Amino acid sequence: MTQWTSAVGAAQLARQLSSQQSRPAGPGTRKPPAYRALADGIRVLVLEGRVPVAARLPAERELAVALAVSRTTVAAAYEALRTEGFLESRRGAGSWTAVPAGNPLPARGLEPLPPETLGSMIDLGTAALPAPEPWLTRSVQGALEELAPYAHTHGDYPAGLPALRQRLADRYTEQGIPTMPEQIMVTTGAMGAMDAICHLFAGRGERIAVESPSYANILQLMREAGARLVPVAMADGLSGWDLPRWRQVLRDAAPRIAYVVADFHNPTGALADEDQRRGLVDAARSAGTVLVVDETMSELLLDEETEMPRPVCAFDPAGSTVLTVGSASKAFWAGMRIGWVRAAPDVIRSLVSARAYADLGTPVLEQLAVNWLMSTGGWEEAVGIRRAQARENRDALVGAVRRELPDWEFDVPHGGLTLWVRTGGLSGSRLAEVGERVGVRVPSGPRFGVDGAFEGYVRLPFTVGGRVADEAAQRLAAAARLVETGASTGTDAPRTFVA
Ligand SMILES: Cc1ncc(COP(=O)(O)O)c(C=O)c1O
Repeated sequence: MTQWTSAVGAAQLARQLSSQQSRPAGPGTRKPPAYRALADGIRVLVLEGRVPVAARLPAERELAVALAVSRTTVAAAYEALRTEGFLESRRGAGSWTAVPAGNPLPARGLEPLPPETLGSMIDLGTAALPAPEPWLTRSVQGALEELAPYAHTHGDYPAGLPALRQRLADRYTEQGIPTMPEQIMVTTGAMGAMDAICHLFAGRGERIAVESPSYANILQLMREAGARLVPVAMADGLSGWDLPRWRQVLRDAAPRIAYVVADFHNPTGALADEDQRRGLVDAARSAGTVLVVDETMSELLLDEETEMPRPVCAFDPAGSTVLTVGSASKAFWAGMRIGWVRAAPDVIRSLVSARAYADLGTPVLEQLAVNWLMSTGGWEEAVGIRRAQARENRDALVGAVRRELPDWEFDVPHGGLTLWVRTGGLSGSRLAEVGERVGVRVPSGPRFGVDGAFEGYVRLPFTVGGRVADEAAQRLAAAARLVETGASTGTDAPRTFVA
């Protein structure tokens, strides 16, 4: 990006900086110099998508007046941001926000531990539930009965088994979105789908617009593909997608792809309404951006009074702007590793070529099992079990966290598998670290942000219920006390964060 495409005024920036969450530093915490605090404040606004990329910042003098600090402080903050890749400047054109080409801060996806190694640890690390039996066993038995004709073939189906492609296409058609099997590719989970999509569309240095926060493992996959992530802030609460902001980012940063989780967003649980869906598609179409919509959570409606809007691809049924990614992992079982993409036939053909060198295809037996479930009504039964489990766990977890950690804040989502929790000013990274020692694994907020955003958050999944949820909240409260008092380190390391 060589030039700015929008502007943020001095008064507006001063307002945004002052509304950032800031907590008194604990005893022993050193206060950063004023220029550093200002640079960090602006960096966080960019990383959370609250100030867009390619937005012109006010002149140093104007910002100094608005913030009542010296011009030298603003100049030093801008210089620090330039060095770190968050600001570009040209004489006569001013300074505008940017995202660094590399990863200035270490960022990580989620790291599931093998269940056998967990011992007495309560694992809140992954948002995936055990298989909804007896449907796993039945589906595999059903698949075995249908395996014989495939045993005589070489077994490689890079686009997926024809029977499952047809079944998945029929499911979209039944929802009022006419779909042919040529519009479907079966993948190894949603991750496999995203890998092929990144391979095809997002080469090194390409920009990808992402919700901020977003799903940690996909962010990591995109980083590893060499993409530059352009964050777009989620609106506060569960209202989710701020259309003017999305329109501006897609127009100004012209990303090759925009990646959204419109159904029970991971991690916030937000659900996009019809207007937001239509607006996102229109904005992507006008900007020439491919809109990748991840429907992994779409079946997990937990409150029946909430009405599910139509899938986003209803606003682009041909699938030339919208690529839909689906998965059996949340609705059924992550151990199946079955996902899919719906798009225009020519896009599917290119994706099939793009994935061939990764895994050649998805295991036949698991495809047959999902096909069996979807053609016998077992899928709906299994989803029913899954929803009931997730609902019960959500309610237990919400109650336990409210009781044990009354100053932690969150909105209770109507579906999905995750609670996005503001930790009352405590560092999410420290909580995760100390949590491991007191027997609870929890991912910190920054894993769901771009390069360091969301230090004051953790994500809690609806994977435990009843007394385990109580125990998990008690262990989190113990971790919080240790982080708060600094007793966990015995050093004067910062215990609170100042955003
Ligand atoms: C939004 C989202 N996308 C993708 C995935 C990964 O899906 P899969 O197991 O199908 O690869 C997850 C899992 O948590 C998810 O929440």
